[in-house]
Amino acid sequence: MSTVSSAGPPLPHGDGAAVALAAERRWAIVVGVIIAAIVAMMIVTGLHWSAMPPSRVETVDVRTLHLAGEFVESNLGSTIEADGRAVVRLIAQQYSFEPPCIVVPAGMPVTFRATSTDAIHGFVVGTTNANTMLVPGFVATFTTTFPRAGEHLMPCHEYCGTGHEAMWARVQVLPRDEFVARARTAPRISCVAR
Ligand code: CUA
Repeated sequence: MSTVSSAGPPLPHGDGAAVALAAERRWAIVVGVIIAAIVAMMIVTGLHWSAMPPSRVETVDVRTLHLAGEFVESNLGSTIEADGRAVVRLIAQQYSFEPPCIVVPAGMPVTFRATSTDAIHGFVVGTTNANTMLVPGFVATFTTTFPRAGEHLMPCHEYCGTGHEAMWARVQVLPRDEFVARARTAPRISCVAR
């Protein structure tokens, strides 16, 4: 009977040491494969994106966007353009969206055009695929269709400072006819009383 006692687990020796060594080697191989896969993914996506850059990069001057041009306050909100497209223009700033309540139509494509006046922000509309980053100096744009009417929360999803968690807007998806009727009543509509 053994009389040896120790505070820690018994040190491996003999067969135990060989088993431990084999386990370490297995893990080293698994970790090595994971690292190789991640590096390969970075190389492939890097080459892919440099070979196929985004189709358009649109810039805007953050120093003047509140004074003139597309993103002045009176031009923010939703509208139906002359060509019939529904377009929403908004800006993000520490720590709010303007307009803070956005109306969009259900069942027809709607194009978002947005930018930031200060830090990097972003937004996602509820659980829909309407999701973008907002980088100062650049216009983010995407087109999506909301399948049904309803309300969504639209939080900022890029950490932008101490007020980040309180930065969000509301999105009202109106039935298409209601949206079109309202859009005819004013050049820019939102669900905020002005
Ligand atoms: Cu704006 Cu986080």
